Amino acid sequence: MRLAGRLAGELLDYLTPFVTPGISTNELDRLADAYTTGVQGAISAPLNYAPPGHQPYPKAICASINHQVCHGIPTDKPLKRGDIVNLDVTVIKDGWHGDSSRMFMVGEVSVAARRLCMLTHEAMWHGIVKVHAGAFLGDIGHAIQRFSEGHGLSVVREFCGHGIGRNFHEEPQVLHYGRPGTLDQLQAGMTITIEPMLNIGRRDVKEMGDGWTIVTKDRSLSAQWEHTVLVTQTGYEVLTLSAGSPQAPAFALPA
Ligand code: MF3
Ligand code: CO
Ligand code: CO
Repeated sequence: MRLAGRLAGELLDYLTPFVTPGISTNELDRLADAYTTGVQGAISAPLNYAPPGHQPYPKAICASINHQVCHGIPTDKPLKRGDIVNLDVTVIKDGWHGDSSRMFMVGEVSVAARRLCMLTHEAMWHGIVKVHAGAFLGDIGHAIQRFSEGHGLSVVREFCGHGIGRNFHEEPQVLHYGRPGTLDQLQAGMTITIEPMLNIGRRDVKEMGDGWTIVTKDRSLSAQWEHTVLVTQTGYEVLTLSAGSPQAPAFALPA
């Protein structure tokens, strides 16, 4: 899991300099799959992924632009200055999954878009720091919800983090809202993702006709960040950190 996690982070590092005005998300998708298979000796987990009730996912990465919340399917449309885009990558290495996503700002973006991206990163970390053996899943959700709604952002309810390991999506569900001291308790050795989706407008979302892409109903901007996290006796280990990961907020740094 440590190796798969690091490779997911390094794949995002690799893609970062390419995310500029004019490139299409299909080009990013092809770069990502070539790096994963050719350089990392790994497999792109999204490609042909077909959970119950879904047609096989047709690409190697998810690319969700502006009001797209998650699971955006790459297209030939070029990114433009001012766009914000989430790239969500999942690699399989030696049978283990590493799942991570980041926000990218394309050229200069609005103050509101930048604020959304930064606060969503911070919201993810508010959840991560709650992780330790014995913590409740509700502690994680509550920390994310409290921080996010406290800053006037809404939390998407229909999608959540998840257990991850030999399978892409395993138990438990990791909700990004909730009440402290509720739901299951974490155990040392579990690996989960924390991946909040926050909207500037209302929390409601809908699925597009392609059967995958999720958008905000009110077309307001949405952002998401994701890490894969190992539960330890005393705390957590973030498995998808890499050289290019943005610094964790001060409250998450060792004292
Ligand atoms: N990577 C997403 C997650 O964080 C899942 C994408 S499923 C796909 O759970 F099929 F759209 F790739
Ligand atoms: Co995930
Ligand atoms: Co993901």
